[in-house]
Amino acid sequence: MYEAVTAPDAGLGRIAGELIRHGGKRLRPRLLFLSASLGEASEALLVHAAAAIELMHVASLLHDDVMDGAATRRGAPSANSLWGNAYAATTGTHVLACAMAELAHLPPDAVSAVTEAAFTVCSGQLRETEHVYDTELAADEHLEIIGMKTATLFGLPCRLGAELAGCDPGHVDALCRFGQQLGIAFQLTDDLLDLVGDPESLGKPTGTDLRAGVFSYAVLRALQQDPNGRLAALLRHENLTEGEAAEAAGLVRAGGTVELARELVRTHTGRAARALAELPDFPGRDALADMPRRTASRLR
Ligand code: IPE
Ligand code: IPE
Ligand code: MG
Ligand code: MG
Repeated sequence: MYEAVTAPDAGLGRIAGELIRHGGKRLRPRLLFLSASLGEASEALLVHAAAAIELMHVASLLHDDVMDGAATRRGAPSANSLWGNAYAATTGTHVLACAMAELAHLPPDAVSAVTEAAFTVCSGQLRETEHVYDTELAADEHLEIIGMKTATLFGLPCRLGAELAGCDPGHVDALCRFGQQLGIAFQLTDDLLDLVGDPESLGKPTGTDLRAGVFSYAVLRALQQDPNGRLAALLRHENLTEGEAAEAAGLVRAGGTVELARELVRTHTGRAARALAELPDFPGRDALADMPRRTASRLR
């Protein structure tokens, strides 16, 4: 990833390299390599594919922090807070171009899978943006959006790893469904942590989603229960003060819908586990099985 972002432009590569240096959980490369262990693949191809997908993720984080005005990322000041929105957005685009250069090493089918996924992720992100401050957004539509933006991004490395390793189509499909279900559980968890988590251990600010008008499952279900209550009145207007955002988060936590969201996380981690159970034994299986468990345990 460092090599990919530095080669074309050292200056932009330095900004991108900062975010890469701070690591993150590297979940998508992990999914790709573990999925590929079901068959046999060229190590070099897997490295290019993993780098391409994780660079797409890094690019989306750079753009996402500009859109959210987030001050921290991966436990450090965000690129937008250090260098301003224009540099951060340009770096995001640079990283996306570097991801495309990595893709050039892959067979055409793999490239098509990645570009198709990229379109779906972008459409999902756009739909989310179209619904900011929409206190009447249906919880089901919100889940569809999560399916587009995050399930796709987690299904892709599983599918690609398995395909590059020559696995049979039924197995590729099961691994892809595993990743998609994990992705939904992961986003629901990430959204809950924005509401109930601790910014220190997350390495990024909490309360961002509420203030940006991005309402997660627990928030939407709370709004549904009381469409004309205090929560709806608070969330309908932009530029919530710190105090108002804290009050809104408190109302959601007190309303019982956080537990509904936790239950939904368990539903999707359960589905992920069942998709994995369709597969014969293979070296990466236990490590993959651990990922939904770890996702759910982030909420404890
Ligand atoms: C954050 O992804 C964006 C979502 C998909 C919710 P991660 O939580 O995987 O971010 P890093 O890569 O570990 O920083
Ligand atoms: C955005 O998700 C990243 C994508 C999945 C495209 P979030 O907005 O929830 O990411 P964070 O919480 O800022 O890391
Ligand atoms: Mg964000
Ligand atoms: Mg989030």
